[in-house]
Amino acid sequence: MNDVDWVAMADTLELEGETHSPYVRRALDELGDLDPRRILDIGSGPGVAACELATRFPRADVTAVDGTPELLARAERRAERLDVGLRTRAADLPEGLTDLGRADLVWAGQFVHHTGDQQGTLDQLAGVLEPGGVLALVEGGLPTRWLPRDLGFGRPGLQERLDVAMAERFGRMREELPGSASVAEDWPGMLRAAGLSGVYSATFLVDHPAPLADGPRLWARRSFERYRHAFGETLDPADLATLDRLLDPDDPAGVDHRPDVFVLTAKTVHYGRRP
Ligand SMILES: C[S@@+](CC[C@H](N)C(=O)[O-])C[C@H]1O[C@@H](n2cnc3c(N)ncnc32)[C@H](O)[C@@H]1O
Repeated sequence: MNDVDWVAMADTLELEGETHSPYVRRALDELGDLDPRRILDIGSGPGVAACELATRFPRADVTAVDGTPELLARAERRAERLDVGLRTRAADLPEGLTDLGRADLVWAGQFVHHTGDQQGTLDQLAGVLEPGGVLALVEGGLPTRWLPRDLGFGRPGLQERLDVAMAERFGRMREELPGSASVAEDWPGMLRAAGLSGVYSATFLVDHPAPLADGPRLWARRSFERYRHAFGETLDPADLATLDRLLDPDDPAGVDHRPDVFVLTAKTVHYGRRP
């Protein structure tokens, strides 16, 4: 695994998963009358999607697979709280994919981009499917919007500048992955190249208008804390001061209190079936 500190991100990942979970339910509606006996959630993190899968398919044997045991422990606690059946399995991926056995449905949410050879990983994920089985791959989509263009202080357009900083950081993360290979990220084309058929993509809007409930608002705070931490060296000092003001718990214009914080994003799921 590369050096992303997944344990430090556990809270944020779970809040993010919860904020996004309406899209997972809609993405599962696309599967029609698929009746999977075995489901793998690959790169499950804290198991929000895995628990949605277990809820939707109560007769299936669902396993959350991840390389971070602390996140799998969260997934287990979550499954217990929600009273759904979930197994967990620690594995270094993609190497560990060969030991997982076959599945009728493989969900891979924002995991493949953390592997160096993305086409190679997709080939292996396709190989895990039973004939007729479906791979649902979450990649692409749009960056999240939380705030209006003009915050009433600082230079307008902060989020667009954060997107640029994030895209550069993402590019560096990919370059540093073991076996990093450049590929045109044509996800449907890559699923076809992995031997899957009936490939199509669907995009789901995640829309939590202002005023935000506590969970999505806390996710917004955690995300801005992460930006502040990650971009301390790269952002302009005026933007850093804006981020500091947004993160000040006593400031009425900060993310904890301002009435205009929202969550708007889009998640794309690419589906393919093993012939
Ligand atoms: C961005 S999170 C996605 C979590 C969840 N699937 C979601 O959609 O919110 C990526 C997950 O992949 C796991 N991961 C990243 N690289 C991995 C690797 N090489 N082997 C195993 N797990 C890995 C991390 O531990 C993390 O939980």
